[in-house]
Amino acid sequence: MDYEDTTLMLAGPVKIHPRVLKVMSTPSIGHRTSHFREVCLEIRDLLRYAFDTEGAVAVISGSGTAGLEAMLCSTLRVDDRVLCITNGKFGERMYEIASLYSQADQLDFPWGKAVNLQVLKERLDADAYRAVTLCHNETSTAATNLASEVGKLASRDDLLYLVDGITSVGGLPVEMEAWGIDGIVLGSQKCLAAPAGLSAVALSERGYEVLRDGTPYYLDLKAHVDRLGKGDTPYTPAIHLLLAFREALRMLREEGLRSRIERTALLGKACREAGRAIGLGLYPDLECASDTVSAFWYPDGVKDEQFRPRLRDEHRVMVAGGQGSIRGRVFRIGHMGVCSLSDLLITYAAVEAVLDKIGHPVQKGASLEAISRLMV
Ligand SMILES: Cc1ncc(COP(=O)(O)O)c(C=O)c1O
Repeated sequence: MDYEDTTLMLAGPVKIHPRVLKVMSTPSIGHRTSHFREVCLEIRDLLRYAFDTEGAVAVISGSGTAGLEAMLCSTLRVDDRVLCITNGKFGERMYEIASLYSQADQLDFPWGKAVNLQVLKERLDADAYRAVTLCHNETSTAATNLASEVGKLASRDDLLYLVDGITSVGGLPVEMEAWGIDGIVLGSQKCLAAPAGLSAVALSERGYEVLRDGTPYYLDLKAHVDRLGKGDTPYTPAIHLLLAFREALRMLREEGLRSRIERTALLGKACREAGRAIGLGLYPDLECASDTVSAFWYPDGVKDEQFRPRLRDEHRVMVAGGQGSIRGRVFRIGHMGVCSLSDLLITYAAVEAVLDKIGHPVQKGASLEAISRLMV
């Protein structure tokens, strides 16, 4: 296995551009210096661009889950009633975290299916909640939830609306203001294609106003927001990760948020059409299929223990397996960040070859044809 020369098609961490990688090998710098202050202020501004907001933002030296916990523990109070919508592993994670800091109820829907808005409405009508949580892009099922529609219901009842945008911000359309989002989190290793280990949070005006004291010490979101506003961080940050993050954010800005989102949508379409061309069944319902990650059922007789190791060892292509109840039954292809149609071509050439070798022949080249049709 050659980790330095692999087509990395996980649902994060994703491929990192050499420009971003180079930054990781620059000399160490102090974080209480004017130089680093400039870095932080640029990150603050670039984060506002990525989240498409003028509001408060923070960057936390901790992966996406740290960002989720900072958002939830800083906005929720122990007596708050919170409704956590779940239809996959990461929505469930929000529920688990919210349960530590509030009175959280779970409203569960089948994996790979859209949230039933009528059921949600009835639940909100029946109970007095203060907040609702949603995982916008459920990476575990490769399904995108209707965050705008959930937002309408949350706004109707004046609820705080807290969203996991870890595999959506910078890859899918996200409209904080129009959808009434009060807090949303992204992860560095996903649509921004930066190294893993950082998360960022954006807050609405109300989201900022409700930030409370007395949170777990490190995850006090108000401290992180306020210090970043002044070009600083409360504690020693992961300096090199922040430098690389800035470079990745600059690349997003150079490409343009809208263009990145459109390009990601094309990758999503290409991945689904290529899968269909060789008879792979999409795991989530097509109506909610994600454009940043796709999940396919394994054909009968194809085993995960055979398929992914062969893809990795014989073709240097890495895709992700299934999670939770669908572990071993699906595989997932990530296509966010700086990933290209050419990366998808390599991936599908390998997928076709491995399926063929393990006794599930497909029409040779059909998936590649489907992708190349979109290469204009
Ligand atoms: C939607 C979503 N939420 C949360 C997480 C957890 O993030 P992390 O592993 O960076 O803590 C992930 C990671 O895959 C994710 O995809």
